[in-house]
Formats: sequence, C-alpha cells, structure tokens
Amino acid sequence: MPDNDNKVTRRQFLNYTLMGVGGFMAAGMLTPMIRAAIDPVLKVKEDSGFIPVGDIKDLTNEPKRFDFKVTVQDAWHKSEETNTAWIYKDNDKIIAHSPQCKHLGCVVNWAGDPNKPNQYFCPCHNGYYEKDGTNVPNTPPIAPLDRFEVDVKDGTIYLGKIIPVA
Ligand code: FES
Repeated sequence: MPDNDNKVTRRQFLNYTLMGVGGFMAAGMLTPMIRAAIDPVLKVKEDSGFIPVGDIKDLTNEPKRFDFKVTVQDAWHKSEETNTAWIYKDNDKIIAHSPQCKHLGCVVNWAGDPNKPNQYFCPCHNGYYEKDGTNVPNTPPIAPLDRFEVDVKDGTIYLGKIIPVA
C-alpha cells in the first residue's frame, strides 16, 4: 500500500532546492556586507594604551618622521599596520603630529615643498600647515593637524590616541 502522506512532489522538491540554494547565495552576499558595516565597531587597536616609537635623544626642535607598527585586531584576524608621526621638541613639551591631511586624508610631509622648508606640505592639493600643525589659510586644509597623546618613560617616546585639535 503506497504511503502518499509523506511523499514529496516534484514541485515541492524543486521549491525546497531553490530555497536552499537561494539561502546559501543570500548568506554569501550578505556576510561581507554585514561585516563591512560593523567592522569599524569590531576593529580595536591592540593596545588602547601607548606604543613605544623611538628615543627622546633623537628629537630636535624640527619635526622628525617616526614610523612604528600597530597591531590591529578585528573579530577574524590580527594584522600589523605601519603608522607614522612627525615629532619635535617645543621647549619642555613634545609635539607629535599625525601625518593625515585634514583636507582629504593624504599624507603630509615636513618640508615637503622645498620652497617652504618650515611648513608641512600635502602634495595632493597643495595643502600647507605651520610647524605647530595650524592649517595655512587659503590652502585646502580646513583644520589643524591632529596630535598624538605623548608620554616619555626612561628616555623612550610613547604615543597614544590621536586627538583632533579644536
Ligand atoms: S588631501 Fe591634503 S590638500 Fe587635499
């Protein structure tokens, strides 16, 4: 005697198969989109504290470039990024500028324009900043360069978070 109650029709089988395949495809497309949306929330600098970047003896009153490694951990993997700061002594203070231009985010260099050896220069759109990070009026940047928090211990310079200058 045939058991028709548990029989799956060809139409039902096709529907289940298409739903399954569609579900896999949707998951495959949505996963990267969701990750991209929440990644900044998950991204955490390994150490929200301070990172050693160099020796205080190397500082002068002229901004000097220091490159250092930062470990970035997100929910899936850990990676190393190179970060940069321009650091100099200002009497008893140490100033550390972020190299990221406040116009559209290009990288600025101290004395990058030989005609203006006492300013930061952004080559993307001819942006200029004074030594203290103040944006030069009538050039594209609309705000001063950000600064790193700075600490010194046993002759080593440590940098912390980047703080926008109001
Ligand atoms: S990005 Fe620096 S001047 Fe435009």
